[in-house]
Amino acid sequence: MQAKDRIILALDVDSEVEALGFVRQLAPFVGAFKIGMQLFNSSGPSIVNKINDLGGQAFVDLKFHDIPNTVAAAGRVMTRLNCYMFNVHAAGGMAMLESVAHSVKDEANRLGQTSPIILAVTVLTSIGQSELENEMLISGFKVEEVVVKWALMAKKAGLSGVVCSPREITAIRAACGNDFKIVTPGIRPTWSAKNDQVRVTTPADALKMGADYMVIGRPILKAANPVDAAKTIIEEMEEL
Ligand code: C5P
Repeated sequence: MQAKDRIILALDVDSEVEALGFVRQLAPFVGAFKIGMQLFNSSGPSIVNKINDLGGQAFVDLKFHDIPNTVAAAGRVMTRLNCYMFNVHAAGGMAMLESVAHSVKDEANRLGQTSPIILAVTVLTSIGQSELENEMLISGFKVEEVVVKWALMAKKAGLSGVVCSPREITAIRAACGNDFKIVTPGIRPTWSAKNDQVRVTTPADALKMGADYMVIGRPILKAANPVDAAKTIIEEMEEL
């Protein structure tokens, strides 16, 4: 994989015009564009086709979490939309994960196209040990243990990988092996502002730890020259 393909640009804007402006500029310098609930809900699903038409690939970050039949049907829609990646909550359970993995494969076969990469979100990084025990009522396990167990469950269910914090990469890579895709946010090159991210990792360090893809937003979006920022990140990864 080329260094540029590892960058997933988080299109955290709510105007389609602004988002597509970034796609036009940056499609040659990043691997995919992440559409979160902010952009998806303001632009609608056609944003995926527009990104594809501009030579980009789309990661639909809507974190599906519902009964198996509903998430399986949403997975078929994602496949028909021709997105590159989408994600679901591992907390939806084994049946939900198996069902979406099966429906996506079936729909892709029916259409004769490649299946999107399905990623699981394990424990949100905003949930600490206290929230896990006192709010989610999961006791007897450390957050890190739940993260690894849910990553393993996702793998067993047939998902392609997970989205996780850089701090969890090493444990997930060790448990789930080299073919399991690891996508990580919380990335900051040394030259860029941390913004509201507290524990950050550089692109080179995330790569060394075993990440396949990194989600990067403001270091590129808010840079004086976004193309130069993306090129600098690529160079820093290539120096490894
Ligand atoms: O601008 P920045 O690089 O901080 O953007 C990071 C992106 O990754 C945002 O879209 C954010 O929602 C997402 N993300 C995150 N931390 C997580 C999960 C997702 O920053 N734990």
